[in-house]
Amino acid sequence: MNGVFKMPIRVLIADDIPTTREDIKRLLYFEEDIEIVGEAIDGQDAVRMTGELKPDVVLMDINMPNMDGITATEQIAVVSPQTAIIIISIQGEYEYLRKAMAAGAREYLVKPFSAEELANAIRRVYETQQRRNSLIANPSAVSFSGSSGRKKGKVITFFSSKGGVGRTTLACNMAVMLAQETKKNVALLDFDLESGDVAVMLNISAKMTLADLAQEEEHIDMQAVEGFLIPHISGVKVLPAPISPEQAELITPTHVEQLLKVMKENFDFVIIDTSPLYSETNLIVLEQSDIVVLVLTPELTSLKHVKTDAEILKKLNCEYKIKFVLNSQDNEGIKVKDVERALGSPLLVSIPADPKTVKNAVNRGVPFVMAQPNARVTEGIKELLQKLELVKNKAQEEQKKSIIMRMFSL
Ligand SMILES: Nc1ncnc2c1ncn2[C@@H]1O[C@H](COP(=O)(O)OP(=O)(O)OP(=O)(O)O)[C@@H](O)[C@H]1O
Ligand SMILES: [Mg+2]
Repeated sequence: MNGVFKMPIRVLIADDIPTTREDIKRLLYFEEDIEIVGEAIDGQDAVRMTGELKPDVVLMDINMPNMDGITATEQIAVVSPQTAIIIISIQGEYEYLRKAMAAGAREYLVKPFSAEELANAIRRVYETQQRRNSLIANPSAVSFSGSSGRKKGKVITFFSSKGGVGRTTLACNMAVMLAQETKKNVALLDFDLESGDVAVMLNISAKMTLADLAQEEEHIDMQAVEGFLIPHISGVKVLPAPISPEQAELITPTHVEQLLKVMKENFDFVIIDTSPLYSETNLIVLEQSDIVVLVLTPELTSLKHVKTDAEILKKLNCEYKIKFVLNSQDNEGIKVKDVERALGSPLLVSIPADPKTVKNAVNRGVPFVMAQPNARVTEGIKELLQKLELVKNKAQEEQKKSIIMRMFSL
């Protein structure tokens, strides 16, 4: 901001264990753009020191005496809203993490992490916070990541005119894995306006939803949207569906158009869950999408629906966006090759049925891609990302490696 002399990012460490504080300092020792300005020994100390020092970023432990990291995060959001908080946690603290994100933390890191991961997380939250701060200071400068349309995120929509096929399950888990694997900005929009389940599936408490956004704002821009996006512990920013079905009426097609435009300009990926209807909202969403994942299960009824959906998308000139994904595949249902023959098109991927893993994850409010990284259904989501070319697959990595080897041997 100030010409060539860039101020370092000022960081406060809050952890009750001295050796952990030392470890963090050591990890950041060589990062010239990051400066440790203080060390707090518990939550209370963290709030007091943040008030005094106004650091850019606080690295916050969860379990601390006197005041825990979640309460401290909540209080810092009030005393120093311009400070961004990164939660440092250990494996398995999902419930705490969720609370911390709801309390206003911007990111989390699970121990152990590398110096690079830590420094990158600090830089990332700092940059986002700077943009947020400048928006607050100067609302007319609506430039979150360049509102001039410079950036254009990819919109991926999960659709089927038959309910209960797994749209929400796939959309949530894919968004979470995408955010974690790519570290890019991923948004998840729940456009199942009358009975959206995204908030429940991700265990997010949605006080403000799309309906409030639509009601409060005549014109939707990033500044307006920001306050309604709920950060999930995976890094995904979630816009939940209205809490009660009748609120769905508050959302007009113009709102949807404006919202999608803003989201595309400000996120790398926008993942959308839909209702099983050809509503006006869904038609706009389908039209605006880059990829439409038509979800089906291995049953005749689902197959019939999805064939009709493909026909309708063809009429809407959206045929090129279609990717067929078979969900809940098992030995009892229609075979993959029969599904493909009936569709007249190959499936992009088939995701296995795994009721135990899926139900368990829903009940815990932790997406299975986080809770069960080795489950076959998680592999299925990974394959979905690879086939959509959103993350690299093993073969591509190998190819890259061999190209590098060849270059060196020349
Ligand atoms: N791969 C899977 N294996 C086992 N169960 C699954 C799988 N995918 C989804 N389910 C289960 O199927 C049911 C429907 O899934 P989900 O809610 O994601 O579908 P939907 O298409 O969004 O439904 P709705 O029309 O209600 O919005 C849920 O109980 C979910 O747990
Ligand atoms: Mg659903």
